[in-house]
Amino acid sequence: MSKRVEDQKFGGVWTAEKLEALERYLKSYSTALKKIDFTKVYIDAFAGNGECIIKSGDCTVPTEGSVKRSLNVDPPFDKYYFIDLKPENHVGLRTLCAQYPALTTELRQGDANDELTDIITSINWQRTRGVLFLDPFGMTLKWDTLFDIAFTQAIDVWYLFPLSGMSRQAANNFDSVDASKKKSLTTLLGSTDWEEYFYKDDPGMALFDETNKKVRVTDQSQMLGYVKKRLESIFPSVLEPAILRTEGNAPLYALFFACANPNKRAQEIAGSIASHLIKKLNGGNYGSVEKQKLAELKKDNTIQPDLFG
Ligand SMILES: C[S@@+](CC[C@H](N)C(=O)[O-])C[C@H]1O[C@@H](n2cnc3c(N)ncnc32)[C@H](O)[C@@H]1O
Repeated sequence: MSKRVEDQKFGGVWTAEKLEALERYLKSYSTALKKIDFTKVYIDAFAGNGECIIKSGDCTVPTEGSVKRSLNVDPPFDKYYFIDLKPENHVGLRTLCAQYPALTTELRQGDANDELTDIITSINWQRTRGVLFLDPFGMTLKWDTLFDIAFTQAIDVWYLFPLSGMSRQAANNFDSVDASKKKSLTTLLGSTDWEEYFYKDDPGMALFDETNKKVRVTDQSQMLGYVKKRLESIFPSVLEPAILRTEGNAPLYALFFACANPNKRAQEIAGSIASHLIKKLNGGNYGSVEKQKLAELKKDNTIQPDLFG
C-alpha cells in the first residue's frame, strides 16, 4: 500500500478539530431552528463510515466521524442524507443508521457531485432548510456542484477546501502546470481566470529569454482570497475560513462557511455561530479530547521499561 493511500485511512489532529466545530454548529443550528416550521435536513456528501482514526506520530486514537456526530444531535434533523463513493464505507454506515431507527436516513453510494445534484433537485427548498458538510480528501468537489447548492438559497455549507492540494496543482512555474492540472484547477474553481490572477510574466526572465515565462505571484493567503471571492460570486454570505494545519503548523485545508440563504437575518444568525467556531478553530481550541489522549499515549510510549525494575 502506498504511503498516500495508507494515510487516507487516518486523519490528523485537524480532523478532530473540524469535527468538533461541525458538531457544535449542528447542535446550535437544530436548537435555533427548533420552533421554525421548516423541514430540516443534514447532508454529508463525503460521509466516511461513521468513525475516524486520528494519527499523530506512531499513536492513534478513534473518534466519532461526522455521521455519528450528526445522528446524535438533539433535537434531530427531519432527514439525513449520507453519500460515500466506497461500498466498504456503506457497511459501517448501514450498521450505524440501524442504531437510530427513529431517524430518517438515506444512504447514497456514488460520486458526491452526482448524488448531491440529485438530492438537491428532489427537495422543495421553499419548505426546507439544511446543513451540508463537504469533507473531501482532495479536489473532488466540482464548482458546478457548489453552484447547485447555492441555487437552493436554503443551505448552510461547511466546505473543507483543499488548500495545499490547490497549491500543489498551481506550481510556481506555469510551465509545470500541465493540461490535467489546469483542468482540475478550473473544475475546482469554476473559472479559468485563476491563471491570470495567480501568474504573471517573470520580469527577471524577460531580460534573458524572449519566451516570457510565467511564474506564480500569489502566496497561499492571496490564493485563498481568490477562492473566497469565487465563493462570494455565488453565495450571498461567506466567512473568512478557518485554517487547519498539520502539527508542524503547515496550512493544509481552509474550512469555509457559506450561507446560501439571501435573508439577512438568517445570515446574521448562522454567521454569528459560525464565526465564533472559526475563531475557536483558528485558536486551536477544538479536538482537545483527542489531543489529550494522543499526548498520554506518547508519554506512555516514551516510558522506559527499566524504570519499573
Ligand atoms: C475525509 S473522508 C470523510 C470523513 C467523514 N466526514 C468523517 O468524519 O468520518 C472523505 C470520504 O470521501 C469519500 N469519497 C472519496 N471520493 C468521493 C466521491 N467522489 N464521492 C463521494 N465520496 C467520496 C471517501 O470514501 C471518504 O470516506
